[in-house]
Amino acid sequence: MVLRKNFILKKLGTIQSFPVLPDTVFALAKALDENRELPEIVALAERDVALTTNVLKLVNSAYYRGPSRAAIGNLEEAIVRLGLHEFERIALSFSALHSFKGFGTGAVFADFWKHSMIVAGTCARAYEILYEEKLDRRAGRDLYTLGLLHDVGILILDFYFPELYQRVVKHFDRKLNLDLPEFEFDVLGLTHEDIGAWAMARWNLPQLFIDCIGHHHREGYQGPYTKELRVLRLVNDMTTCHETGTLATYDPSDLTLRSELEELQFKLKVRFVTEEVFRAADELVQQLQ
Ligand SMILES: [Fe+2]
Ligand SMILES: [Fe+2]
Repeated sequence: MVLRKNFILKKLGTIQSFPVLPDTVFALAKALDENRELPEIVALAERDVALTTNVLKLVNSAYYRGPSRAAIGNLEEAIVRLGLHEFERIALSFSALHSFKGFGTGAVFADFWKHSMIVAGTCARAYEILYEEKLDRRAGRDLYTLGLLHDVGILILDFYFPELYQRVVKHFDRKLNLDLPEFEFDVLGLTHEDIGAWAMARWNLPQLFIDCIGHHHREGYQGPYTKELRVLRLVNDMTTCHETGTLATYDPSDLTLRSELEELQFKLKVRFVTEEVFRAADELVQQLQ
């Protein structure tokens, strides 16, 4: 197993064409944090033709356009209609999805991103409810990005090590609530959390991402991001339960986590919030692919 782990890490380290997050997304985040004027934001976003095309496609879709609104033909109007906050989330989601284009196809790929976007779309709200604390734009974006990227280790393992990873997938049944990282560790000697954390480091993302993504299924994290990690774990578990229909039977061995989960579901009025976030995520995945 140690051999397999070393083989995986060594091979990943030599891959030249590893996905990158586009520069536009970082430039946009910076411009939004600095409260730049709309034309400047538009000019920045327009540098990315694929992003522009997709935002226009999305804003003209039935879900975003609504029954009576006129079609939109330019990015500035699209951003005004969406609002800066929503536009930023869409740009982030598109960039993540685009970076991993080709890392999967069909329903499995769509489900993967739907799950990630639901977690992303719920984390900031869950944080504010749990800690009774209003997040600023930057912290909200970090939590959204965290949700979006928390499972990319799965895509990376599946894409670069298909035979090995299929051995994990074949024996794993989410509905039975079996622990994916445990299976991964048995077969590979490492988990999708390890690989996700490795990818965050490779992308030079802040330590928050490395720590939280590297521990989003495990106990015992001792570091500065316990609040963010707790939210990510809770929302991830809650979303997985909802997706697999195990909400009623969910029985994690960690009783504290379980009661926190139930409390959060109650406070988020889970049905309503999840339906709403789910519909938006569904639309995003369909339009952004
Ligand atoms: Fe995960
Ligand atoms: Fe997940």
